[in-house]
Amino acid sequence: MSTYRCLLGVIHIFLLIQAIDAIVPPSPLSCNPSGCNLKNSYGVWSDRKDCHILNVTYPTTEEELRLAVAYANQNGFKVKVVSKFSHTIPKWACPEAASGNGFVISTEKYDSGVEIDAANLVVTTDAGVGLRQLIDKVEENGLSLVAAPYWEGVSVGGLISTGAHGSSWWGKGGAVHDYVVGLSVIVPASRSEGYAKVLRLEAKDPLLNAAKLSLGMLGAISKVKLSVEHRFKRSITYNFTDDAHIEDMYVSHAKKYEFADIDWYPSKHTAVYRYDSRVPLTAAGDGVNDFIGFQPNSILISESVRASEKLMENTRSIKGKCTMAATTVGYKKVAANGLKNGLIFTGYPVVGYQGKMQTSGSCLYSTRIDTACAWDPRIKGLFFYESTAIFPASKFGDFIRYVKKLRDLNPENFCGIDIYNGFLIRFIKASDAYLGQSEDSVVVDFNYYRADDPTTPRLNQDVWEEVEQLAFFKYGAKPHWAKNRNSAFLGVQNKYPKFNQFLAAKKQMDPQGLFSSKWSEEILYEMEAEKADGCALEGMCICSEDRHCSPQKGYLCKQGLVYQEARVCRLSVSAIPSLA
Ligand SMILES: Cc1cc2nc3c(=O)[nH]c(=O)nc-3n(C[C@H](O)[C@H](O)[C@H](O)COP(=O)(O)OP(=O)(O)OC[C@H]3O[C@@H](n4cnc5c(N)ncnc54)[C@H](O)[C@@H]3O)c2cc1C
Ligand SMILES: *[C@@H]1O[C@H](CO)[C@@H](O)[C@H](O)[C@H]1NC(C)=O
Ligand SMILES: *[C@@H]1O[C@H](CO)[C@@H](O)[C@H](O)[C@H]1NC(C)=O
Repeated sequence: MSTYRCLLGVIHIFLLIQAIDAIVPPSPLSCNPSGCNLKNSYGVWSDRKDCHILNVTYPTTEEELRLAVAYANQNGFKVKVVSKFSHTIPKWACPEAASGNGFVISTEKYDSGVEIDAANLVVTTDAGVGLRQLIDKVEENGLSLVAAPYWEGVSVGGLISTGAHGSSWWGKGGAVHDYVVGLSVIVPASRSEGYAKVLRLEAKDPLLNAAKLSLGMLGAISKVKLSVEHRFKRSITYNFTDDAHIEDMYVSHAKKYEFADIDWYPSKHTAVYRYDSRVPLTAAGDGVNDFIGFQPNSILISESVRASEKLMENTRSIKGKCTMAATTVGYKKVAANGLKNGLIFTGYPVVGYQGKMQTSGSCLYSTRIDTACAWDPRIKGLFFYESTAIFPASKFGDFIRYVKKLRDLNPENFCGIDIYNGFLIRFIKASDAYLGQSEDSVVVDFNYYRADDPTTPRLNQDVWEEVEQLAFFKYGAKPHWAKNRNSAFLGVQNKYPKFNQFLAAKKQMDPQGLFSSKWSEEILYEMEAEKADGCALEGMCICSEDRHCSPQKGYLCKQGLVYQEARVCRLSVSAIPSLA
């Protein structure tokens, strides 16, 4: 790790003489005379295929948005709405059509309207408004948005459409769509109605339960009405402690602290409990939660971390990964994950306004040419998968017990995820959204190395595959709609008791399937697609034969170490031609 310290030193000197310029995230859309290409913020979709479209339009008002839907309808184009940055990992926003006639509506410029009704504690925003902009406006008016994802680079329309959440079992809970009390959505209409019309859904309208979490499949959302509360502050302390009792403590922890979460680093036997409660506005403190992972990263450091990870992959250095994980966790502890009492972290608790404590993303506003978000696709920085499983609360303890068994076989196998955020455990409540959770739930996120080349197997990939299959198949966890590899979505339609109500709303609002795509149909209605060679490496399938892994590189399809029904790609050294 001394290399990194040394690099840090060099970079600090470097920064002093650097010209000031900004590396803000790129637009997800690029066009040339023959059409456009849509990407997500990581620059690569879950299936690694491009998303070619015919054309894109940037409405600035609700009427322009309506005309754009009408244009697509009149021409029979498949259409999808996408936000300014396109932060969703799977391909929901791609209108991909067999005919190639896909049309995209960007909400990048439909982002100005934020109307506050303080008397009724509601705020109505244009769908393209960014989360940070919304939070700041609401706070200026003496109000707070209670729930929000931890990452602020998203739009209001996009975040509710995928069920984005923070963490809470109190009140309405941690998911933002559960605060939606009204929605305007533009759907295709008949010629006499002008080819598209605005539906204004109010709180009691059953269509709202379909539309508030709708994966962009029902229509173009123009306005979102959210309930808010009087402005408040929070007090946060992170307790870095041992992980002995997570499975017995998660319920009481979530009940005791309004904004509780737990970050578990299995290779380090460390759990980080977030003690996070509302405090009165009079409590002293003007702290900020500037989460480390979302701060502007030195491009040189992001690239050198990536280069080290690649080297460790090539040399199969699990020890190297463990050293890196230890450094990362150690640094997070010292830096309180990015909490700041003022300019820096000086000690717990950190007290600050809700608007500064829930959500962050300072890398979005990076003001220098040599820093960026660590995953910016224009640099050779971090590149990773993100698996997120949502469990019924009662089943989560058993899942943890199982993962601990797997960990105890060899804790070092888990270093690769501890380099990222370990297992981030969060809480959301039962929802009446048809594609939301039918019961109080626990969400677990974990990130891990993704190779540049889809045919390259990865160190310990069998372990992550086993954890994924444990979650999604043994415990019936649901995949977060905005994350995951395709294989996590297998059988998803059977996991939602109200899936058919969603489909009925789809028939009513978008009978021609204008807002459907080849990709979304495959994910939502079909089972596993045809299994190509190597498909399990990228999570395009679950392996059932060696060829779905990489026999040439020694990765064969094997059963799980603890969950024997799992089928995973595991390195068997004896199978490597050059070593055998
Ligand atoms: C670094 C990072 C951190 C994240 N952290 C969290 C987190 O803490 N919690 C969490 O739950 N999620 C998190 N996510 C996931 C993120 O919240 C979701 O992907 C969110 O949907 C992204 O919003 P967006 O505005 O970028 O939407 P997009 O990716 O642009 O769109 C998402 C979907 O919504 C549709 N859509 C967008 N706008 C409209 C509209 N106006 N009308 C109809 N459909 C629309 C699109 O077609 C697409 O299907 C994170 C993602 C990243 C990259
Ligand atoms: C692109 O979309 C605009 C509407 O925003 C339309 O006027 C234009 O004709 C479209 N171009 C093509 C090639 O479809
Ligand atoms: C941290 O958590 C451990 C285990 O639950 C507990 O024993 C300890 O008292 C906690 N520390 C603080 C400062 O709350």
